[in-house]
Amino acid sequence: MGQKKLLKFEAIGNYPNVLQYPENIKGKWSDFFKNNHPITLELACGKGEYSVGLGREHTDRNFIGIDIKGNRIYTGAKTALAEGMQNVAFMRTHIGKLTEYFEQGEVKEIWIIFPDPFLRESRAKNRLTHARFLYLYQQVLVPNATINLKTDSKELYDFTLETIAEQGCHIHQNIADIYGKGKATGALSIQTFYEKMHLAEGRTIYFISFSLPDKPITLPERFAKHEAVD
Ligand SMILES: C[S@@+](CC[C@H](N)C(=O)[O-])C[C@H]1O[C@@H](n2cnc3c(N)ncnc32)[C@H](O)[C@@H]1O
Repeated sequence: MGQKKLLKFEAIGNYPNVLQYPENIKGKWSDFFKNNHPITLELACGKGEYSVGLGREHTDRNFIGIDIKGNRIYTGAKTALAEGMQNVAFMRTHIGKLTEYFEQGEVKEIWIIFPDPFLRESRAKNRLTHARFLYLYQQVLVPNATINLKTDSKELYDFTLETIAEQGCHIHQNIADIYGKGKATGALSIQTFYEKMHLAEGRTIYFISFSLPDKPITLPERFAKHEAVD
């Protein structure tokens, strides 16, 4: 690991707003934040621009950025600390372990921002809008919670539309080109590291906002017998 990465890893070890693979936090987020405000998750948060950006706007809500890479989380955590934000935290862990950290109904909203699209069909099960993950989200979300996806991948966008149609999800917003349609306003105007890169390459940005159905998410046969996400 490079020297810079090492320093960032060392730093987040001392940051009070970063939890790394925490134990016994499930059901106790209100103790952590010292309030009962609703919790939004930013999954695959990278540098955490959404957690910080939304956290600035909504001080009556709590935000948790989740990513496996500590050196990326460092950037958002450092900004949140510097600004004295009490409502923004970061967790370093695998998204597949979500149910170890949150109880049913502990999460109010999810943002998934430029996740890896896993274009090869053999890796489709790793897409964060695959039924395996929707199944997982259903176990931590309040009913009718909103899940938001922003992506530059037409393949992931189409895959997500197919999956949510199959599962009977409710679509709130479906924007095929947020900049072309003049919709990059409000929360959608927040730009992440990856979004800036994609925009510089002239890529189109897609957005879907949806809720899970009341009925349980149906897992494809070959996943049904095992843990939803390994
Ligand atoms: C393409 S980057 C996007 C980062 C950020 N959202 C942005 O827009 O700049 C995808 C991120 O997902 C994280 N990631 C991928 N799979 C993950 C998993 N299973 N659990 C936690 N983080 C994951 C990676 O570490 C990486 O930071």
